[in-house]
Amino acid sequence: MRALVTGGAGYIGSHLVLALLEAGHQVVVVDDLSNGHLEALRRVEELAGRPCSLIVGDVADRPKMVSALHGVDVVLHLAAFKAVGESMTNPERYFRNNTGGLASLLESMVDAGVSRLIYSSTAAVYGEGSLMPLTEQTPPGPDSPYGASKLLGEQMLQWMCRCRDLRAVSLRYFNPVGAHPSGRIGEHARTPSNLVPRVLMALTGDVPALTVFGADYDTPDGTCLRDYIHIQDLVAAHMVAIGLLERPGYHLYNVGTGRPSSVREVLDAARRVTGRAVPFVDGPRRAGDVPETVADPSRFRQDLGFEAKRDLDEMVRDAWRWWTQNPGGYPE
Ligand code: UD1
Repeated sequence: MRALVTGGAGYIGSHLVLALLEAGHQVVVVDDLSNGHLEALRRVEELAGRPCSLIVGDVADRPKMVSALHGVDVVLHLAAFKAVGESMTNPERYFRNNTGGLASLLESMVDAGVSRLIYSSTAAVYGEGSLMPLTEQTPPGPDSPYGASKLLGEQMLQWMCRCRDLRAVSLRYFNPVGAHPSGRIGEHARTPSNLVPRVLMALTGDVPALTVFGADYDTPDGTCLRDYIHIQDLVAAHMVAIGLLERPGYHLYNVGTGRPSSVREVLDAARRVTGRAVPFVDGPRRAGDVPETVADPSRFRQDLGFEAKRDLDEMVRDAWRWWTQNPGGYPE
């Protein structure tokens, strides 16, 4: 099979490209390298022992995409902006890149006669105040332009599946963390704001201490609960979803573990895995955070037998390996 991965040089994309190559597929990556890294793809090829093709460019470049799509069986569309806070101050950028980028990609797919798509969506399509756990039937209600830009994308896909012969799967990712077990590829965040990278920074002294954003939530230990999922499990979900494209129509799945972890539990896992206590201070709540986000992953399990296997210790262990083997991330 020939797969085209947009955003294939990014964090999730690089792990996905590796899995596709390892499964024997031909892979074309389209990435504008705004957040992706050539070095990530170089290492992916080294790990896989096989090359992929790279097209440097924007998914909204119609002539480039129509030509890239030639002979492609399935598109995995990951290229997007994902900073929730930035989307509040610069919403138009998110609608143009995320929603507009998908609209343009769909036009190129129609022109090129490609009709199978996996779409990276997000738990950010659900709103604050939703009942936990979140099922695919939970009414969406994004709290940010980022979430809205992704939800609009889902709606476009639903219509394209009805009005054209598109087959599409939206995967709503929860909190992806961790790295490939080799330690060769991982998340290169220039200024990390997510919990796991900040924990690693506190462990290596890059920041004096982790600030726990709120210890007074109405949760068992007072800190927020999230559904962290190992990047390798997330990638496995995509591989299963590709098989679903044998069936016509539109499909939607949550991709989480269904097992929430608190900030304190992440700190405990980091201590178990590294043998070092994470320096931390309890601080005020971060604006926009909700007490709990957890997936009900049962639809994916029941329909396709998909289940995330890796536990929190494995997520932190693999993130730590990547972090210590690559201080500062990929070489520029
Ligand atoms: C964020 C994004 C989400 C994205 C995900 C990627 C928001 C609102 N959501 O989720 O769309 O998919 O990242 O992984 O931005 N925390 C601390 N101290 C820190 C950093 C985080 O206590 O220094 C806490 C947060 O308050 C939160 C938890 O750790 O309770 C997880 O935070 P984070 O990793 O940033 O993920 P989310 O905010 O859940």
